[in-house]
Amino acid sequence: MPLTTPKDQDIVLVGASGDLATKRLIPALYNLESDGLLPSRGSVVGVATNDWDDQDFRMHALKSVAVNNPSGIDDAVWDRFASRLRFVSSLGDGDTMTRVVPRLDQATRLVYFSIPPSAFEGSVASLGNAGLSEGTKLIIEKPFGHDIESARHLNQTIHQVIPEERVFRIDHYLGKETVQNLLVLRFANPLFERTLNNEGVQRVEITVAESVGVGRRGAFYEETGAIRDIVQNHVLQLLALVAMEAPHDMGAASIREEKAKLLNSVAPIDPAFVVRGQYTAGTIDGKKVPGYREESGVAEDSQTETYAAMRLRIDNWRWGGTRFLLRTGKRLARRETRVVVVFRDAPFNFFATTEIQRLVSQKLNIRIQPNEGISITFVLKEPGPVVATQKVDMDFSYASSFNKTPKEAYDRLLLEALLGDHTLFISESETERGWEIVRPVLEAPPPVVPYEVGSAGPAEAEGLVAPRRWHALED
Ligand code: BG6
Repeated sequence: MPLTTPKDQDIVLVGASGDLATKRLIPALYNLESDGLLPSRGSVVGVATNDWDDQDFRMHALKSVAVNNPSGIDDAVWDRFASRLRFVSSLGDGDTMTRVVPRLDQATRLVYFSIPPSAFEGSVASLGNAGLSEGTKLIIEKPFGHDIESARHLNQTIHQVIPEERVFRIDHYLGKETVQNLLVLRFANPLFERTLNNEGVQRVEITVAESVGVGRRGAFYEETGAIRDIVQNHVLQLLALVAMEAPHDMGAASIREEKAKLLNSVAPIDPAFVVRGQYTAGTIDGKKVPGYREESGVAEDSQTETYAAMRLRIDNWRWGGTRFLLRTGKRLARRETRVVVVFRDAPFNFFATTEIQRLVSQKLNIRIQPNEGISITFVLKEPGPVVATQKVDMDFSYASSFNKTPKEAYDRLLLEALLGDHTLFISESETERGWEIVRPVLEAPPPVVPYEVGSAGPAEAEGLVAPRRWHALED
């Protein structure tokens, strides 16, 4: 679809000096300016507790773009962008948004809450107090609540001020090119779609592995852990896109409806099929790094998981009998988000001479990041007079086929929200169902087991796949 320029409106960035705004949102807005995709008229109002004026905010933004934008800064684009920037100091009280009002130029606006979850409800009330219910579209960052009850409460609070059709719940994984491509891969290619069901597929592995630790977010992470931070949202969204039925069309309502239906079929996760882990000190990329319990803001006897692996069922006709395996963790051997679809073995394999060979299955390997691409593994005869078989790959890579690397997720998400399109955002029912799916584990979490930094996670996770094995991270 051709890109359109959004209608005139202001953008209000609440939490403008925080990590997310500095590293991702301000550079994304600059990129949209550069591509001519910001509204023709409209200010960008930064809000934060810093004692800054407009000029200080411009300097902050300039630094943020210079450090975080690999393509550098163009003077003319920067001048256009800088002329939009305004700043409002927040005292953290209910009147913050009232102080924003005189800085607005347009009748409508996109307000982005890039703030700690504990500040969401107060900030929503502040929007209402300032008379900004009309004309506001609201983007809310994850985590959306802490459990099912708090998510429901937050939804109710928001709806008192902003109706659902103007609420945009972010899961930045939906802004990734490779994630959007999942639906095209499945529904534009019958070869795949006809085999993606319980007859064709033995198991699906979804991995979100990170090599980074919790960094400066120790205190936040203590309250969150991998299940709330990654599984309830990013991983379940990947699962929904991999397993949902074809939508009626590619509009937001149809896609969200099919995702919600799929999530409704996912059986709440049984804690007996969950492994929680926590990283201990070790070496990664040749550097010694502390264990989780030594990170700042983390309790010495913390029971928070930095790794989670689980097996779940989808109770519907397409998927009953196929295993779904999910895992995520910090400080693992490498950064890698991947979906591996493992097809069922041939009913009888003439060519396997060992049990291990028999277990080498055909697979579809979808590399979400890095090295974005898709490969299919299959078995062929090696050239020569005897029948000897070998695994080979057919590989597609974004970099070589499209000659470009996918854009940052936030550029796309901000543009879609400016345009008022909900396709890449999560609905109320999806987020609440996500909490219901992880609820049994949050209520009765199995004990955390240690794993060494730079490893593939705790060995206990292999039990979930036995007698098979997880695909190795570096595979
Ligand atoms: C965020 C999590 O949502 O996603 C972080 O809060 C995590 O803990 C990040 O590091 C990973 O995002 P990406 O795009 O680097 O895979």
